[in-house]
Amino acid sequence: MEKKIGRNEPCWCGSGKKYKHCHEAIDEKIRRFADAGHIVPTRDLLKTPEQIQGIRESAKINNAVLDAVAAQIHAGMSTQDIDDIVYKVTTEAGAIPAPLNYEGFPKSVCTSINDEVCHGIPSEDIILQEGDIINVDVSTIYKGYFSDASRMFMIGEVSPERERLVRVAHECVYKGLEQVKPWGFMGDMGAAVHAHALENGYSVVADIGGHGVGNEFHEEPFVSYVTEPGTEMLLVPGMVFTIEPMVNAGTDEFCEDEDNGWTIYTWDGEDSAQWEITVLVTEDGYEVLAD
Ligand code: MF3
Ligand code: CO
Repeated sequence: MEKKIGRNEPCWCGSGKKYKHCHEAIDEKIRRFADAGHIVPTRDLLKTPEQIQGIRESAKINNAVLDAVAAQIHAGMSTQDIDDIVYKVTTEAGAIPAPLNYEGFPKSVCTSINDEVCHGIPSEDIILQEGDIINVDVSTIYKGYFSDASRMFMIGEVSPERERLVRVAHECVYKGLEQVKPWGFMGDMGAAVHAHALENGYSVVADIGGHGVGNEFHEEPFVSYVTEPGTEMLLVPGMVFTIEPMVNAGTDEFCEDEDNGWTIYTWDGEDSAQWEITVLVTEDGYEVLAD
């Protein structure tokens, strides 16, 4: 239970307004959902206008980094070359690559090719080949604010099967996004993602998912796509989170690289694709911050 605030006291959000003219109505509404048994966000998950502005600026840099990768990616380059681009563009913008040294992660970006589901580590020895599909997952810290997005890239001519997987994984994110609105549920979003993947004969990884983001790299809630409508966390204006389903051509099962402790592969060796966006819940829907 959150601390009670007098109606004439300053609002907890730091707006300087009286509580009764600021978050009181929203807090009351959230409490009614909680009383009805729903999972609801704590106050720290509702970003203030100042925090949202900071996350927006971080996301702008994150987008520019992905644009730089998009402009330069090609067959024959190494995933270390991608890491170099990410490090350079991020630091020249006055920002920090969030993955670098995050829980011991050794590089500035995750690069995951073909059957790698996520958390691939850039290396001089991994050379992009014609026909590969690769996820480049970029996360940025700017003035203490975090943003997170990833894109798929197709290297040269790619098989129709891989092209379809990449396209459907992209569609899944936007099917989910259509469901993001205040006083809806995270489960509405996830169910739409999952349905679209299943309709296309694919599976979605259940145990790795999205997350709140903004003041930290990974905040509550865990964002699953294997969900039912009307379940999971209530969506409230000011929440910022990622939509980043990992869509697999075969089984949703996966395994972790025993040597590096990071890279996740599909269990069956089939391909996996993922796109990620950072989304803000607004008064009347959503705003995509990073993509
Ligand atoms: N960028 C990943 C995400 O979408 C997290 C990567 S953690 C790292 O949440 F350490 F591998 F970078
Ligand atoms: Co993420």
